[in-house]
Amino acid sequence: MEAHIIEWLNLTVRWVHVIVGIAWIGASFYFVWLENNLDRRVKNPQLAGELWAIHGGGIYHLQKYKLAPETMPKHLHWFKWEAYSTWLSGVLLLIVVFYLNADIYLLANDAPLSATETVALGVAGLIGGWLGYDVLCKSPLRHQPAILGLVLLLALTATAWGLSLYMSGRAAYIHLGAIIGTMMVGNVFFVIMPAQRSLVAAVEAGDEPDPSKPKNALLRSRHNNYLTLPVLFIMISNHFPSTYGNGLNWLILLALAIISVAVRHYFNTRHNGQQFVWVIPAAVVAMIVMAYVTAPTPVAVAKTEQGPLSDAQAQAIISTHCGACHAAQPSHVAFVTAPAGVVLDDLTQSKTYSQRIYQQAVVTQVMPLGNTTKMTELERQRLGQWLQLQNQ
Ligand code: HEC
Repeated sequence: MEAHIIEWLNLTVRWVHVIVGIAWIGASFYFVWLENNLDRRVKNPQLAGELWAIHGGGIYHLQKYKLAPETMPKHLHWFKWEAYSTWLSGVLLLIVVFYLNADIYLLANDAPLSATETVALGVAGLIGGWLGYDVLCKSPLRHQPAILGLVLLLALTATAWGLSLYMSGRAAYIHLGAIIGTMMVGNVFFVIMPAQRSLVAAVEAGDEPDPSKPKNALLRSRHNNYLTLPVLFIMISNHFPSTYGNGLNWLILLALAIISVAVRHYFNTRHNGQQFVWVIPAAVVAMIVMAYVTAPTPVAVAKTEQGPLSDAQAQAIISTHCGACHAAQPSHVAFVTAPAGVVLDDLTQSKTYSQRIYQQAVVTQVMPLGNTTKMTELERQRLGQWLQLQNQ
């Protein structure tokens, strides 16, 4: 029953997270696009630019002010709840998925820390990530955005590597995504919103606004823009064990982050000419290279004294190590139905799934989740040998 409730909690929170996340990122992409496509040859000296657009059967005429109109409009739309609710639902999802079932989802195989300690590490990462990032952005590096970006990339890569020592691959990935997401929301909450509030307050009071605040806000907002695509990949990464399940998962994440930041850069600069158009074919080639380097290599299967497994022995290993979850009626408390629909109750089913079992339990070793059943290397090798025979 408890597993059933957690599943529906997971479903609801995840659904909300995706919806508000789309609202946040959608609005943010739209405004970046708007900014980049403004027609700046406007006659009115108060205006920075304007834009005509057609959408949903209607024609829109938008104008951007250099600073603000003389009198503030009665209704000024603010965009902040999309960001806040994405973060809040994200943290809730982290708790529901990873912290309530820490032994199977959070902990690395043979984890050096206890579940509570690893949860503490995750939470410390979220807070420490924001504090460290904020210090970096306030340091003299802020005058050299490219170097700042590079330092940030290196620091995040080091964080991913560090997390991967203590957490399962999927948990390390999601935590890095949550750390970056927290930085992005922190930018909205602590920097961008206050800058906007002080701009509006200054205009309303008839004062000269402080130009340093919008400048800071712009830097943070640009960071958010470039960080979006890596975060989006991380959020879907749990579907791809060949990324998080790889021994060098942090390096794979770095490569995917570089590819996505480059693609974002092309889209950000496209209106100014096509000098970065090469990024698109380069990204395609890079994805092919990534697929190649992460391809499963035939695992060297040890010739053991016992010789190859018989069908019955192989099924016994599968039942021992997978059966608690991958059964028509799982006995594991966290599951009501077989995860991913993979039922391994009998030999025919195990043979049907042989390739996927090989990928999950022998190559990436992401199964059994959290290695809760303590499957040994020898068992994996012998099972691997048997599975290879099934596919010949
Ligand atoms: C503690 C529970 C648990 C155990 C034990 C477990 N699994 Fe899984 N397995 C899961 C969950 C949960 C998923 C759902 C997908 C996900 O969240 O990654 C899954 C998914 C899978 C998939 C489908 C992944 C895909 O998309 O191809 C395969 C195959 C699989 N497991 C094989 C195994 C094998 C083989 C073992 C035993 C060596 C095993 N699992 C042990 C929980 C478990």
